[in-house]
Amino acid sequence: MRVKRLAILLSGRGSNFEAIASNIRSGRLDAEIAVVVSNRPDARGLETARELGITAVSLPSKGVSREEYDTLLADEVERHTADLVCLAGFMRLLSPHFVRRFPLRILNIHPSLLPSFPGLDAQHQAVEHGVKVSGCTVHFVDEYLDAGPIVGQAAVPVLDGDDADTLSARILAEEHRIYSEAIRLILGGEWSIEGRRVVAGRSTGLDSA
Ligand code: GRF
Repeated sequence: MRVKRLAILLSGRGSNFEAIASNIRSGRLDAEIAVVVSNRPDARGLETARELGITAVSLPSKGVSREEYDTLLADEVERHTADLVCLAGFMRLLSPHFVRRFPLRILNIHPSLLPSFPGLDAQHQAVEHGVKVSGCTVHFVDEYLDAGPIVGQAAVPVLDGDDADTLSARILAEEHRIYSEAIRLILGGEWSIEGRRVVAGRSTGLDSA
């Protein structure tokens, strides 16, 4: 069986990308990272990719229309024959045009228990709202913001003394764990979608040949 290829899209620090790369290295995740693409040339994640010997592509989005950018981005992903596109801190909303080119082949990780607190600063939103539990969500990307079918979630407590930073750190540790687990499930192909529900172990999503 051919090793499945990931395209990672990021805009900044890239700690989720690093966790995925580390799980691949240690054999916990059977996949390879075909390319890391950033819309920000100064993203630390790009630097890390280069250090790890992974193909790193800077595709600046500044001054490019959304449609044009998404075509360039989709072409780049296709050039590297990626089976799955993983958004890992990619700070751009993808157009329906992009999403339609990779149906059920794009995952995102979001630092809240969706559908609570979509959008920016989810951890800050959670602290401000006063929830007692928050967490993170890996979901398929559709054309709406943080809205596609949920693949995996993990919960963490929100403590009385938390601010957005302390809560973010607690959530991030879970992000690093569940993103690789979700990728493993989806690449394994043993799942189906029933309505909005991603159901593990029933039939084949991705071709696992
Ligand atoms: C993470 O909190 C992720 O959930 C959100 O953006 C952040 C990216 O962090 N989408 P990193 O670049 O992976 O360190």
